[in-house]
Amino acid sequence: MLKLVVPTPPNWVLGAIEHFDEILLDHAHCEKKAAGAAVKLLFAYPQHPHLQEPLSRLAREELGHYEEVLRHLAERDIEFRRQRPSPYGGKLHALVRPREPDRLLDLLLVAALIEARSCERLKLLSDALEDEELARFYRGLLAAEARHHQLYFDLACQSHPLTEVRSRLSELSRRESEILGEPAPFVRLHT
Ligand SMILES: [Fe+2]
Ligand SMILES: [Fe+2]
Repeated sequence: MLKLVVPTPPNWVLGAIEHFDEILLDHAHCEKKAAGAAVKLLFAYPQHPHLQEPLSRLAREELGHYEEVLRHLAERDIEFRRQRPSPYGGKLHALVRPREPDRLLDLLLVAALIEARSCERLKLLSDALEDEELARFYRGLLAAEARHHQLYFDLACQSHPLTEVRSRLSELSRRESEILGEPAPFVRLHT
């Protein structure tokens, strides 16, 4: 598993369980965004054959997760609606360098970090949820999200030198933890 610089503090889980309806809604949006990010890469980089099939498969898997979360929302009578997103994704993407081949490397590593953090937080939720059905659902997602962050890292290694991948990853990983440490007025999967 990708090493995150700072682990999630225990009080995040308490807030997440307390506002679980909001977390579940945010989770639906996050799965859809994860699919969208992969599809965006397919459109932006048709010249990189190694990205095509793995990211297409990943996007389909994320949309499958999206549909599953929508079902859990419906079962709990939670209306699917727009929601103020966490600033996390936007702040991470602001770190992406504009010039190639740096841009591709950063996009892949930012995606890897988001997947790694999601994986860590889904695990915390699966341990803390008292609703056995939901806890099982979250445990089921863990393996997929762990695979996803590894995939993004592997794809980066196929197009960029390993030493460069490692040093940029540790830089972005440090920034990821700082961004997550900034106070947010609401609780989300990534706050
Ligand atoms: Fe997912
Ligand atoms: Fe994922």
